Amino acid sequence: MKPNDNIYPIFDRLLSRIEREQLLGQRGAMVWLTGLSGSGKSTLAIALERELYRRGHLCRVLDGDNIRTGINNNLGFSAEDRRENIRRIAEVAKLFVDTGIITVAAFISPTNDLRAMARDIIGADDFLEVYVSTPLAECERRDVKGLYARARRGEIPDFTGISAPFDAPRHPALEIDTTHLSVEEGVARLMALLEKNLTKK
Ligand code: ADX
Repeated sequence: MKPNDNIYPIFDRLLSRIEREQLLGQRGAMVWLTGLSGSGKSTLAIALERELYRRGHLCRVLDGDNIRTGINNNLGFSAEDRRENIRRIAEVAKLFVDTGIITVAAFISPTNDLRAMARDIIGADDFLEVYVSTPLAECERRDVKGLYARARRGEIPDFTGISAPFDAPRHPALEIDTTHLSVEEGVARLMALLEKNLTKK
């Protein structure tokens, strides 16, 4: 017997997603930001949440600050750990989306494979992949956390963009290069992407 064999779902007794969305007056969605460390993912996510709030919409940001320090604090940066990181994030995000919340994830999620897994877990209909395509040279120039310098010195193994891969998404719903773009302009593009989620049901 598998460990899950004794779990009986109670989905028919739960409120439906549509009922929750009607309560909130919005549609749930997943905005999945992917890009290098320092590309601007978290900055955009936080600014988007503020703008949604200002317009009366409920949003939840998932990023390293609330995920890698909590539920995923036992995971590192091996390929296996990154996979588990993204799997758990996607499962958590799915619950938020199903609650009718506009959910914004800001994780490197470096490969097409990992992002496909997230899309499969969350559901393609709700999944908006946004490539924060700020180039490595610019991320490294910013080096907000000083990690690129350390990675170049060989002090951080498997560092994305330096000694671990990053695949550019093939067909993102939106691409944002923050090199010469203001945060406000980035948020405006994200809001345009979310337009249909913001209509009252
Ligand atoms: S992911 O690859 O598993 O999606 P995640 O977005 O959660 O990565 O975490 C990335 C952040 O962890 C980076 O912005 C950086 O601050 C930090 N970090 C620490 N070690 C590494 C590493 N080896 N590669 C990339 N980021 C790292």
